[in-house]
Amino acid sequence: MLFLINNQMKIKINPAGVLCFLLFFNLNLKAQQISSPNGNLSLKIDTTESSLHYSLNYKGKSVILPSRMGVEADVFSLVDLLTIKSVTFKAIDNKWIPVWGQYSEIRNNYNEIALECVQKNMKGLKMIVRFRLYNDGLGFRYEFPEQKNLNYFTLKEEITEFNLTGNHLAFCMPGDYDTNEFPYTTTPLSEIRKAMEIAATKKGYESKASGFTVQTPLMLKTAEGVYINIHEAALVNYAGMLLNVDETNFKLSTHLTPDKLGKKGYLQTPCNSPWRTIIVSDDARDILASSTILNLNEPCAFDETSWIKPVKYIGVWWEMFIGAGATWSYSSNYKAKPGVTDYNKLKPNGKHAANTQNVKKYIDFASKHGFDAVLVEGWNEGWEDWSSYVKDHHFSFTTPYPDFDVKELQQYASKKGVKVMMHHETSSNASDYERQLDKAFQFMNDNGYNSVKTGYVGFVIPRSEYHSSQWMNNHYIYVAKRASDYKIMVNSHEAVRPTGLSRTYPNWIAQESARGTEFETMGGNDCDHTTILPFTRLMGGPMDYTPGIFQTDMAYYNGNKPDQKVHTTIVKQLALYVTMQGPLQMAADLPQNYERFLDAFQFIKDVAVDWDNSWYLEAEPGDYITVARKAKGKEEWFVGGITDENPRIATVDFSFLPKGKDFVATIYEDGKNAHWDSNPQSYNIRKVKINSRTILKIQLAAGGGAAVSVR
Ligand code: NOJ
Ligand code: CA
Repeated sequence: MLFLINNQMKIKINPAGVLCFLLFFNLNLKAQQISSPNGNLSLKIDTTESSLHYSLNYKGKSVILPSRMGVEADVFSLVDLLTIKSVTFKAIDNKWIPVWGQYSEIRNNYNEIALECVQKNMKGLKMIVRFRLYNDGLGFRYEFPEQKNLNYFTLKEEITEFNLTGNHLAFCMPGDYDTNEFPYTTTPLSEIRKAMEIAATKKGYESKASGFTVQTPLMLKTAEGVYINIHEAALVNYAGMLLNVDETNFKLSTHLTPDKLGKKGYLQTPCNSPWRTIIVSDDARDILASSTILNLNEPCAFDETSWIKPVKYIGVWWEMFIGAGATWSYSSNYKAKPGVTDYNKLKPNGKHAANTQNVKKYIDFASKHGFDAVLVEGWNEGWEDWSSYVKDHHFSFTTPYPDFDVKELQQYASKKGVKVMMHHETSSNASDYERQLDKAFQFMNDNGYNSVKTGYVGFVIPRSEYHSSQWMNNHYIYVAKRASDYKIMVNSHEAVRPTGLSRTYPNWIAQESARGTEFETMGGNDCDHTTILPFTRLMGGPMDYTPGIFQTDMAYYNGNKPDQKVHTTIVKQLALYVTMQGPLQMAADLPQNYERFLDAFQFIKDVAVDWDNSWYLEAEPGDYITVARKAKGKEEWFVGGITDENPRIATVDFSFLPKGKDFVATIYEDGKNAHWDSNPQSYNIRKVKINSRTILKIQLAAGGGAAVSVR
């Protein structure tokens, strides 16, 4: 069916009515405009000043002022003197089913405009700029079709500006090519330069980006209360994006991570940039509820996904952080070399946690309390000098230490219905990891492992690369793809921050890529950290935050970290399982600490890790989040509420429950005098009858939370 919308546009609706295509050609075209399906967002694009500009309005008010677009490479500069040769419109409204996540079904509803741009001076080089406008945000990317005069090119920079309307409040961290493990700062844009200097703490392998930059996802709030989130989707074969900040004029622009040769990407047509994303709403809850970044990623690359399963796990892990002496390494001989040294001849240091006996204790605990897996770190040769030097071979991923019996543990775990989780710390030696990858994954298949935690601590090998440069971004994807050949799930630590690629590769079930709980023993995470993470790092995908710490004061261990404390109450740790959603969740504390608080531990045992639906009840970045979720395939609901350093009352409106039915809610709440610092282990547990008309007020302590399970 074909009909005319105005005197120039034609719309075609296919018989199913699902897709609409609009085609339009005009050689003198200079300005275009489209709206989101609900009309809240409108996008303007023009070439009146000879370069391409876009601007974005939300509910009639400007969010992004006219901002320049373009790409510069060694063989072209597609920034100025562009003309629009043709324009294509499209409207899409369909649904897809994710393998896991916060919804069992996701609506993909957008209006698209694609501009074919040519530049006379550049031998008619062609670039398509494609925009997709959703109800809650915009995605756009640059595409370079196969063409006569363009084959290879090396990126110099992408010129994408985000010109803001004022001195917005910014939740962000310093720009760095190698790490995202900085604390967040909350300041107006005009003051972030100073704040960034404080936040850019030394961690050993940071590489500050040149100029003044911040990382994405960047969360902004305008004085009028509009929330704006800037990030990218589908970071494939391209460099990770930072943002240059002009804090006087409130202008941001793309800053691609270079390699150490100064190049920002090696490309061959046909190819494209990732999507640049701008999520917008006047209600902070909509930012958390958004699926736009996932929608902009390609569908699942696998035909069969039944082997991808959500995982709740414990681990031989926290022992190494609490300052009580446990080590990853087997001996103190820092000259030991995998493949050369006979580790059987080394003197054990007596503190090696990944020994068969100790792992069995964890397996017993996991089995008794219904966990799926036990992570074991420090099982393999190479830890004696693991992060000291960028040498060519650090670890063996197939050779256990002498006191770790792979076969015995496989049998023991299997009898107890538990999996052992593999650990591949690579020391960022991606080259060596790729050399060993197939043998390492075969070893996992042969010994009953179905998931691996990878790690990228330290400077990268190849030595020309950074953690977010193009080569490394391809490496992480290569690992996820290769893992899928062996039906292995991957949880990567210290990799580039996620951009929704778990839609395409759902076996990439989690990443760290931000400051996780481990930093509570290395300087600390402020009380508001977990109220910012869902608005920033988690926009691209789930985080292996490793919550569940009940013994929050490290002085308890009489070790070498007497002044380190987790900034939380016990109940806030419970709430994090709901606020930090993802299909991989760790109960990170030592089993003996859970034995001390078994009634509170019950929530961790009960809580689901995969969901049919989610309802954001209250949210404000940096202050609080309250969310309710329905367990996948079960008539069970869980609510998590967290606050920053300020006490608050969470209001839980249960109208998301089915109508006309009574349920029992088990409420885990901070004790009357609970406080993250002075009284973190005080809590109450009570049961109440509720229905869909119930509204509960729950008091949260300073640095506290609330957790509710409903059956
Ligand atoms: C850093 C990771 O985030 C942490 O979880 C791991 O234990 C260490 N690296 C050692 O691999
Ligand atoms: Ca880490």
